[in-house]
Parts: sequence; structure tokens; C-alpha cells
Amino acid sequence: MIRVVSDVSDWGYHAVIKPLLFSIHPDHIHENFLNAGEVLGRVPLITGFFRAAWNYQDPRLEQTVAGMTVPVPLGIAAGYDYLGKTSTITDALGIGWHTVGTITAGAYGGNKPPLYGRLKKSKSLWVNKGFKSPGAQALKEVLDSLAPQIPVGASIGATNKHYDTLEELVAEYVTAFEILKDPASVSYYEVNISCPNLHTKISLYDPAVLRQLLAAIESLKIKKPIFIKMPVDITDDHCRELLDVIRDFSITGIIIGNLTKKRDNPRIWRTEAQQFPSHGGLSGKPTQALSDRLIRVAYRHAGKDLVIVGCGGIFTAEDAYRKMRLGATLLQFVTGMIYGGPQVIGRIHLGMAELLERDGFGHISEVIGIDA
Ligand SMILES: Cc1cc2nc3c(=O)[nH]c(=O)nc-3n(C[C@H](O)[C@H](O)[C@H](O)COP(=O)(O)O)c2cc1C
Repeated sequence: MIRVVSDVSDWGYHAVIKPLLFSIHPDHIHENFLNAGEVLGRVPLITGFFRAAWNYQDPRLEQTVAGMTVPVPLGIAAGYDYLGKTSTITDALGIGWHTVGTITAGAYGGNKPPLYGRLKKSKSLWVNKGFKSPGAQALKEVLDSLAPQIPVGASIGATNKHYDTLEELVAEYVTAFEILKDPASVSYYEVNISCPNLHTKISLYDPAVLRQLLAAIESLKIKKPIFIKMPVDITDDHCRELLDVIRDFSITGIIIGNLTKKRDNPRIWRTEAQQFPSHGGLSGKPTQALSDRLIRVAYRHAGKDLVIVGCGGIFTAEDAYRKMRLGATLLQFVTGMIYGGPQVIGRIHLGMAELLERDGFGHISEVIGIDA
């Protein structure tokens, strides 16, 4: 039944809704979408309909990770729900877990517009949001007013401004953590060390700098899982160096990874990329192979110590399944949902269950890392 409803919705999204949405500049859509999602998420008739029409659950896909029950592997990656408003709606649609933010201690209105652009042929989004954020306190109040059944996590960054010293920057992370440390509405945290469009020149990709940040976070004695959101524009050796630092702290896992800034990427149509300034980052298909490569590197180097979350260019069940076979335990996406529509969440999970069956596996955990 879900297959038929999903096929019809898929046709409807690609034939009608997407052309309509894609005719409007993305800067005008994002916040309105989040506000609409919050309202719809509070209407049981709507969430009930989404659950019945599109939500695919399967015990073969459920996992417990660092004490969190994640009903299906795919989650919402940071950046889509930077206002923290839509977890009840994505829960109804069948997402497994949902990250809000990146949130910062202080509010920030966003970089100078445009904030977003679409590279349709490259199946990518250009992002210049720069941690646009209502601030941690405002976000906490929104999260406390919602009651999704899935784990919701907060991605934390430093307020987007110039910092004279590393200590000032680290203090910003600590303040945001302190505000969001206790609420039951937050199940896990992401430390975003990899945003490509901030004002600060301090690089958290430097292992010594990362060590100082993680030591400050460690001193907060946070009991919930913490993931590090990794850059994708790094070499294998650099990745291993960062993993060696991360392993020295009480960190649950890593998310691989964030946006790419590099334009010499075979997945990017040059004529499209030329329309956007170089300071933004690119999502979607251009990040796919970068993420796949580093997932394998991370699994081989630190797969026993760290949970790996695959993120970057997931559009289909095959993309999701491949990342898990390379070493990811969980997954996240943004761009695939924007290009594919909300019904794609259920389609990917249904497809993953079919792939498991095809390959003779009884549970998704059996495939993690088998191609690494
Ligand atoms: C519109 C948009 C905003 C984003 N903002 C953030 C952010 O605030 N923090 C973050 O860690 N990643 C952010 N990202 C990166 C995504 O979380 C993800 O790592 C990246 O887009 C690759 O996944 P995808 O190909 O599924 O989109 C953003 C991505 C998009 C498309």
C-alpha cells in the first residue's frame, strides 16, 4: 500500500509541487516552510495523515545507538530546521532522528543575502546562511513546546562574528551548551566544527584547536551523546589526525560531513557554480563521493571507537545503503528531501529494507562496514 501512495505522491511532487516551489527564490521559502511545518505539526489530523500515507517503519531498520532508540537510520541534518520547529512533522513523515540548528549562544540574522541558491543540474544547494540562528534560549523554548517521539538533537556552533582569540570562540560553544544542557527535549548534540561560511578565521580543523574546544566541552560533563560534524574538504590523513583527537574525549561519534567549498568537483556543473560567489558551501551530489570516501577512512581508522553518521548526497535507498556498507551506522540528509519531496523519507527506508532482503541480511546492523 505504502508503495502505491508513495509512487503517486512522488509523481505529484515532481510534476506539480517542486516546479512551483523551485520557481520561487529559496531565500523566500525556507523560513515560511519552517513556520508552516510548526503549525501543521500541531494538527493531529495532518500528522496522522502523513503517518498513514508516507511513514515506513520496519524492525529490521531500528537500532539503539548510545542509548537512543532510532527507529529508522535516516535523520534530518543540521541547517534545514535552524529554528527547531519541524520535528513533529518529520517524525510523522517517518524520519528516524532530527537535528535542529546549527544554534549559537547569541542570535544572528544570517549573512548578507542571498543565503541560498539552487544548482539543479548538479543536484546541489549553495548555502551562505552562516549560522543564522534565533539564539540558544529562543530555540530551547520552541523545542520544549514540541513532543516528537524521535530523538531530537541540537547542532551547536559559535555565534557568527569575529573572534580575537580561540578562548572567546570556545566560550561561545560552552555558553550554548550550558543553555541546552538540561532540557529533556534535546536527546543529543552535534558540535559543528565545519561551517564553511563564517566570519572567524580561526580554523577548528586544526587538531590543536579542536583539542582545546573538546577539552572545554568535556569539562561540562554532558551525559547525552555528542557527535562532531566533520568537514569533507580534507585529506584522508587530516581526517585521521582529527579522529585521533576526537577519540581522546567522551565523544559518541562523527558526522561525515558538511558542505564542500571546492569547485573543482566532477559532480558540479561549472556554468551553474559560476553563478554563485565562492564564499558559500555546496550540498547534495557534489558532497556524495567526498563523504563516502571519508566514511570508509573513518571506519577503518576509528570504527571501533566512534559511531559514524553518513551525510552528503543521499537521494536514494542505494545512496543510503552504500554509506552504511562503507561504515555508517546512521544517516542524515537535507538536499535529498528538498529535491525528492517529503515522501522520499519513506521511499528510502522501504528501498533499504528491499536491499537488505535482496542481499540476504536480517537486520541493517549486519551491513555496517562490510565494504570498508
Ligand atoms: C540549506 C542548508 C543549510 C545548512 N546549514 C547547516 C548548519 O547550520 N549546520 C551544519 O552543520 N550543516 C549545515 N548544512 C549542511 C548539511 O547539514 C549537510 O551536512 C550537507 O548539506 C550535506 O548533506 P546533503 O547533501 O544531504 O544536503 C546545511 C545544508 C543546507 C543544504
